[in-house]
Amino acid sequence: MIIEPRMRGFICLTAHPKGAEQNVKNQIEYVKSKGKIEGAKKVLVIGASTGFGLASRITSAFGSDAGTIGVFFEKPPSEGKTASPGWYNSAAFETEAHKAGLYAKSINGDAFSNEVKRETLDLIKVDFGQVDLVIYSLASPVRTNPNTGVTHRSVLKPIGNVYTNKTVDFHTGKVSEISIEPSKEDDIENTVAVMGGEDWQMWMDALKAENLLADGATTVAYSYIGPSLTEPVYRKGTIGRAKDHLEATAFSITDSLKDINGKAYVSVNKALVTQASSAIPVIPLYISLLYKIMKEEGVHEGTIEQIQRLYQDRLYTGKEVPTDEKGRIRIDDWEMRDDIQEKVAALWEQATTENLSELGDLQGYRKDFYNLFGFDVKGVNYDEDANEMIGIQSLQ
Ligand code: NAD
Ligand code: NA
Repeated sequence: MIIEPRMRGFICLTAHPKGAEQNVKNQIEYVKSKGKIEGAKKVLVIGASTGFGLASRITSAFGSDAGTIGVFFEKPPSEGKTASPGWYNSAAFETEAHKAGLYAKSINGDAFSNEVKRETLDLIKVDFGQVDLVIYSLASPVRTNPNTGVTHRSVLKPIGNVYTNKTVDFHTGKVSEISIEPSKEDDIENTVAVMGGEDWQMWMDALKAENLLADGATTVAYSYIGPSLTEPVYRKGTIGRAKDHLEATAFSITDSLKDINGKAYVSVNKALVTQASSAIPVIPLYISLLYKIMKEEGVHEGTIEQIQRLYQDRLYTGKEVPTDEKGRIRIDDWEMRDDIQEKVAALWEQATTENLSELGDLQGYRKDFYNLFGFDVKGVNYDEDANEMIGIQSLQ
């Protein structure tokens, strides 16, 4: 069977197992090429199958020879249907980790639930004893709070006023103006319930209560700030409130880990093409202009470059972890450089449907988007029958 991308709106309904495998191998090679990192050896990654979480799992395993337990929510292959990309990524990751003699097991289910937490705690107890690093990298539109049974849905809306700005349909390249209605009060609460820090705190409390955190254990969650251009729909919008909550939670987790010398960090990462960010209006146009400038300046990074640098230059230098005035790790430093932001802002003013393919890096955006699903990956022969891979790959 030849697998092709099938688009519906901002999502792709198919995924390519060989492309996913090649993506994972490329990330592994990158991490290896940068040398060893004196990092954690027993690592739990929550949200481990795509994006920053997958890059974290790969960096821990192939940068520090760590054993990893990955938690994620992905669809296995079924009759006539491919798996979701994260499922193929994780199958490929496990295969490569095992080949390298590294421990790697995965739990596929709802990380917000008590059941998946229970299963993970039991696995850590039996196989690891304790963990010394917990990466929290969930991105989800919905969360059912296990204590209340209430299902919350997050929204991406401005707060207070209608927000009007340019956006691009990255499939067609059409630049248009979009107006987004402001949130209602429960939109903020719901978005904070899904993407804020409550579930992170629950994970850390549960791990601590059963003595599954090693002395000096670290936990890291990921956040985003971005430029003033996108503030109304991102940092000062509903999702921004959730990120404020996530960042505040780092302090309460650190407090609760005092007796084991533990520490919780939020790392502010660069804007990148992921399934989550492609769905936010305005952001894809910003990213396509940002990529253009960052590539020109020679400072462009993808998820693996970001996370490898986070580990090597921030978390595991042997010195104190550098943070900003709000206690956050900043690995978005190159994105936020004044000269880069000034150039992006100037391009933003000019961008139209007619000139975007020159002003912006729409090609790069599309390529990254297709890559998420295992398509358009260098080194993959897409004319080859991918059928056997759908069946033979499995998660242990
Ligand atoms: P992603 O969509 O690539 O990854 C999300 C992960 O969460 C996947 O592993 C998925 O399986 C898992 N997941 C989702 N719902 C789950 C559930 N109920 N149970 C278990 N697993 C579940 O997202 P990403 O872009 O890597 O985002 C990760 C974090 O990084 C988020 O907090 C995001 O806000 C942040 N971030 C993203 C960007 C960006 O530009 N993409 C920039 C800075 C920070
Ligand atoms: Na992730």
